[in-house]
Amino acid sequence: MTNNDIAKKGQQYVMNTYGRFPIAPIRGKGSYLWDADGKQYLDFVGGIAVCILGHCNDELVKALQEQSSQLWHVSNLYWIKPQVEAAEKLVKESGLDKVFFCNSGAEANEAAIKLARKHFYRKQEASRNQIIVFKESFHGRTLAAVTATGQTKYQEGFAPLPGGFVYADFNNLTSVEALVDENTCAVLVEPVQGEGGIKPADPLFLSGLRKLCDKEGILLIFDEVQCGMGRTGSLFAFQQYGIKPDIITLAKGLGGGFPIGAMVANEKASSGFAPGDHASTFGGNLLATAAANQVLDMLHADGFMQQVQKTSGYLKNELAKIIDQRIIETRGVGFMLGMEFNCEIKGLVDICLQKGLLLVGAGPNVLRFVPPLTISEEEINQAIKILQEALKEWTV
Ligand SMILES: Cc1ncc(COP(=O)(O)O)c(C=O)c1O
Repeated sequence: MTNNDIAKKGQQYVMNTYGRFPIAPIRGKGSYLWDADGKQYLDFVGGIAVCILGHCNDELVKALQEQSSQLWHVSNLYWIKPQVEAAEKLVKESGLDKVFFCNSGAEANEAAIKLARKHFYRKQEASRNQIIVFKESFHGRTLAAVTATGQTKYQEGFAPLPGGFVYADFNNLTSVEALVDENTCAVLVEPVQGEGGIKPADPLFLSGLRKLCDKEGILLIFDEVQCGMGRTGSLFAFQQYGIKPDIITLAKGLGGGFPIGAMVANEKASSGFAPGDHASTFGGNLLATAAANQVLDMLHADGFMQQVQKTSGYLKNELAKIIDQRIIETRGVGFMLGMEFNCEIKGLVDICLQKGLLLVGAGPNVLRFVPPLTISEEEINQAIKILQEALKEWTV
């Protein structure tokens, strides 16, 4: 089957929820993908910040093969050995205390929203159920997560939306203070806004949020679904800010491409949940947590994060050298970088794809760079060369 054959069948049988590029990748290795017509691409999308070890990493393949020949799924009615091991690693790495596993980022945020509310319910403060979220944020597509998302374009047509969310301005502590009242139970924030255009939080903003939450007894939740798992140059983004949230949510990179999400919380917040309060049939099953264990081990290995810091610094430098009058700014942390233009970038992304480089936007004007964390400087040079050629060809 060619790209065209697959696309044609897809249009007939797959529900029309995605705007898709006209290619069907069928094979991958490291930072490269090959489509059904045999064309090769350098992949700076990585399944949108998911394939952190590149495609078909040998050790990850082996871990999944070994687990798949032993046992795939039982149920959370029983103890699941790789789940317990992955939880221990996440706890030790984060300095938090307990983990709930699910299957996606939206579910991890749903779990955090439910935990925050149940935490206060158990303290006989059920009216404390309002969550402060941020404009331009993104937290997923389930009804609560899309309501927490501060972008109306994702909410249109889905009314009635669940209540209990109020929207502050990102990087503006005063706007948060103005929304806090006796009903506030949590603040939910991305340390680096992803879909909102690759916008890192100011250190003073996050430390101010921590102080405010401590003063008011509010839970601080960091959505690290996109910026977690080594993407910013530390395992968790919060580790670069010198503060600790009460809850973090993870997904994307956690399974290196195998679907898994997690909510990690401190003891205080975790005590909100008791058996029966929350669940997921597939959450933390053997295959998913076997993948997460392998990913966590590799990220923990000596020198891995240092290498991410070095190569991501190289990419940022090389991007900053590109001169084009349409570029407003290049920003971001680690391998979560964005190049903002004064116009829409769809045409540029299309040209890059034709030239064998996969990129994706973060909003209409921001070109996003979220390659595998294992990308090499040589591959970065190749991407920069293609991007420069594409910029020359691109007319708006
Ligand atoms: C910060 C953030 N939170 C949550 C989500 C939702 O994750 P998922 O698509 O796995 O539900 C995303 C996805 O892009 C995200 O970037």
